[in-house]
Amino acid sequence: MRLSAAQGFVALTVKYDHMLMWSEQFATGSPLVDTQHRMLIDKINQLEKLLSGPPPSKAACDELLNFLGSYVTMHFKFEEQCMERVKCKVHQQNKQAHAAFLGLFEKFKSRYQVEGPKLELLKSLQTSASVWIKNHILSVDIQLKTCLSS
Ligand SMILES: [Fe+2]
Repeated sequence: MRLSAAQGFVALTVKYDHMLMWSEQFATGSPLVDTQHRMLIDKINQLEKLLSGPPPSKAACDELLNFLGSYVTMHFKFEEQCMERVKCKVHQQNKQAHAAFLGLFEKFKSRYQVEGPKLELLKSLQTSASVWIKNHILSVDIQLKTCLSS
């Protein structure tokens, strides 16, 4: 069945409507932290798109996962320094949450090295990362806003 351009658009919207979208409720009061969060959300969404088409190549997965891994590490460090500088009360909680996420990511990487780009494995990373980042920003990171404004 051929879809008209309008139907095709609706189908695409429906397919990706559960993707994460940065909105003002994610704002931390730090433009740099927000830019980094947008980039992370974008990469997690890219992973979802990659997994919803034909089986992705290992090279494409490697590239995205390597970028995600190093960007997450850089971002966590930056955000922790920012919270420490302004004596944010959730600084320690934030550090612990970051360490827990990095631990999960390391476990994923070990499995990925052995199993390769298995759809089920990559999808579980994508879902966990997507849920984690949304909850983490909304419960911990946005508390930076109060510290930056006081
Ligand atoms: Fe954080």
